[in-house]
Amino acid sequence: MTDSVDVAALAEIAGSLAREVGEGVRAQRAVGVTVAQTKSSLTDVVTAADQEAERLLAAGLRRLRPHDGLLGEEGASTAGTTGVTWVVDPIDGTVNYLYDLPAYAVSVAATVEDGAPGTMSDGRRAVAGAVYVPSSGELFTAWDGGGAYLDGERLSGPTDTELGSTLLATGFGYTVERRTEQAEVLRHVLPRVRDIRRMGSAAVDLCMLAAGRLDAYYERGLQPWDYAAAALIAREAGVVVRGLGDNRAGEELLIAGARGVSAELATLIAEAYRRL
Ligand code: IPD
Repeated sequence: MTDSVDVAALAEIAGSLAREVGEGVRAQRAVGVTVAQTKSSLTDVVTAADQEAERLLAAGLRRLRPHDGLLGEEGASTAGTTGVTWVVDPIDGTVNYLYDLPAYAVSVAATVEDGAPGTMSDGRRAVAGAVYVPSSGELFTAWDGGGAYLDGERLSGPTDTELGSTLLATGFGYTVERRTEQAEVLRHVLPRVRDIRRMGSAAVDLCMLAAGRLDAYYERGLQPWDYAAAALIAREAGVVVRGLGDNRAGEELLIAGARGVSAELATLIAEAYRRL
């Protein structure tokens, strides 16, 4: 499938759209933010900027790739005819955006379904993607087999470390049940690592990992748009991206880490979930 698709060109499209829309999102933040609706719980908000950014991403993709499919966090869903489906998160880290905290990003990924092992549990895999962080102006890009880049500079992920000196990021879902479970898991994991970071955007976490600013990251409950582009960026930077046991990374669990720490971390997290 990817033989017939120019994945580097798709990454270029993802990057230019993520940057263009991200700049608009940043400008809107300066004007003000309004909550448009809530989703899974009162704390799971959608701002008017999320909706507008998704509309702009959809319009841009329609213009540049009119026959591709689209799946967006805020409801965009179009079937395509080319085999390529774009998976977009107009603002990953919406709560940070609401509070004017810097860790939020626009995420754009091109995915295909070709049976090859990838980063997504639903059968599709990201082959090109970009994450733009408006607060820092940093653009992360990657394409299948082509490497990961930060503003054009090749990324090589974190250097190997031991579990006890791992700076580990994680995230929490929005429902009480999910958070109760995640707090229990964290209780088991926290004493065994250097420290924990909860930055509030899975896409930013995975890109920081690709840039070697974290050693590892894990989370249960992610949706494809949260990680489609960023997990590809991490993987292309040499990070191991896996799921629970032999499963692929996905909603059940996504564990990403430096090669030297990945297996031990996966065992620790699996053990924490078994104890629940
Ligand atoms: C959320 C962020 C957060 C993660 C949540 C996601 P949203 O995405 O990525 O870091 O912990 O699981 O839902 O709601 O800001 O797009």
